[in-house]
Amino acid sequence: MNPNKALWEKGDFTRIAATMRASGDALMQRIGVTKGMKVLDLGCGDGTTALPAAKLGADVLGIDIAQNLVEAGNKRAADAGLTNIKFQEGDAANLAGLPDKSFDLVVSVFGAMFAPKPFDVAREMVRVTKPGGRIMMGNWIPNDPTLVAQILKISSAYTPPPPEGFVSPMTWGIENNVIERFTAAGVSVDKISFVRDTFIFNYSGTPSAFVDEFRKYYGPTMNAFEAAEKSGRAANLQKELEELFNAQNKSADPNRTSIPATFLRVSVSV
Ligand SMILES: C[S@@+](CC[C@H](N)C(=O)[O-])C[C@H]1O[C@@H](n2cnc3c(N)ncnc32)[C@H](O)[C@@H]1O
Repeated sequence: MNPNKALWEKGDFTRIAATMRASGDALMQRIGVTKGMKVLDLGCGDGTTALPAAKLGADVLGIDIAQNLVEAGNKRAADAGLTNIKFQEGDAANLAGLPDKSFDLVVSVFGAMFAPKPFDVAREMVRVTKPGGRIMMGNWIPNDPTLVAQILKISSAYTPPPPEGFVSPMTWGIENNVIERFTAAGVSVDKISFVRDTFIFNYSGTPSAFVDEFRKYYGPTMNAFEAAEKSGRAANLQKELEELFNAQNKSADPNRTSIPATFLRVSVSV
């Protein structure tokens, strides 16, 4: 089994995605998705950005490596009565079934960054984008002080080191790496731009209960807890994460959690 696929089919990412919907909606409006646009969403999960793009009238294909998330996305689309969107299984590093120059906009929000082989990912994104079209990636930033980078940083102290040659997904949050990957795919450097943007996680429960959602349902955190349990350090990991979530929570309501997280928004003109 492909370990990348196994990681994301583990648990149930839809539980975390459910806390990210408002920011997904706002982002698709902000980047100018319009009616009739052909949009590809890579690493789409259950459609946090793909569904709003379809609601704005775009013709959307969502691709994700996790079969359970593809099923969940197709169900959400059917429940919303949308006929201009389809989810299917696939790997962002190899879009063999998709013709060259077929999308106006390729979107990947915290998705393709998790695919191994980042140079292949950039090449495939560029290949399937129409001339005059664009690519928009949302990537978490290594060592950023906000939520997701800190979860991954804390968790990494409890997990065994990755295999040799492993390229961290977080390198997609470093501008020079992004430039290197897209220029290798034939894009000139002046066509690549960056802004810092924010996603807000909204959970209807306490910050500690939100940590439990990650512990039970988010593959990377589940793996960190499994490793921490083996070394007898699970309680320390729980404590560190609870401190983090409590410190970052901005909600005034004690029974709700609202945590903003900074990401690197990458725009590439093709
Ligand atoms: C953090 S989730 C984000 C999902 C969605 N974009 C969202 O914002 O809710 C990462 C997603 O990337 C997908 N993914 C990881 N590696 C992938 C790959 N090689 N090809 C396609 N999807 C991949 C995972 O299955 C998962 O759905």
